[in-house]
Amino acid sequence: MKVLAISGSARKGGNTAQLLTMVLDGLAAEGAETELFELAGRSIQGCIACYKCFEQKDGKCAVDDDVVNECLSKMRAADAIILGSPTYFADVSASMKALIERCGMVARANDNMLKRKLGAGVVAVRRAGAYHVFSTLNSFFLIGEMIVVGSSYWNIGLGRDKGEVQKDEEGVKTMRDLAGNMAWLLKKIEG
Ligand SMILES: Cc1cc2nc3c(=O)[nH]c(=O)nc-3n(C[C@H](O)[C@H](O)[C@H](O)COP(=O)(O)O)c2cc1C
Repeated sequence: MKVLAISGSARKGGNTAQLLTMVLDGLAAEGAETELFELAGRSIQGCIACYKCFEQKDGKCAVDDDVVNECLSKMRAADAIILGSPTYFADVSASMKALIERCGMVARANDNMLKRKLGAGVVAVRRAGAYHVFSTLNSFFLIGEMIVVGSSYWNIGLGRDKGEVQKDEEGVKTMRDLAGNMAWLLKKIEG
């Protein structure tokens, strides 16, 4: 049971990373091998629509000068992928959008190579727009034939300043329940 979580926040160790850590801690307690990968401080740009991934079909992005291919190889090695984003103007962060465009295109060019892995989106928000972020994240999983795992509420944690999400009791419970559901399903799949 290998679970990769990627935070698209510009703030290292921020609310998104903290929410993801809650989920990963729950999964680790159930025996999963977990990794949190933060895009903060790493270079990433959007898809340039070169369509070279459809010619090369090697599971990689042809633009090989940023963090995307590192993320893709981690995604391929994982059984479950959790994408976390802060809410920036009612959508995912620019870094997360770039990751979705690039990894989504490479996955499609390679016979939906993330197919049947588990997926879940996690969102940090101060006040409004989180559901749209959640929907953007879920769209990545669903078009790639991934299996989206749910929780007891949509996977949203409330907070503005770093660490405020820890005080959002329902958000914390939602992350714990997500971890429980994902671990349950991973164990069933593992047989
Ligand atoms: C550029 C930017 C745009 C933001 N837009 C929104 C927004 O649309 N709605 C909202 O509720 N909070 C918004 N926020 C607040 C963040 O979503 C909130 O602080 C979140 O907890 C940040 O997560 P992080 O600590 O992982 O970066 C915005 C913050 C920034 C920096």
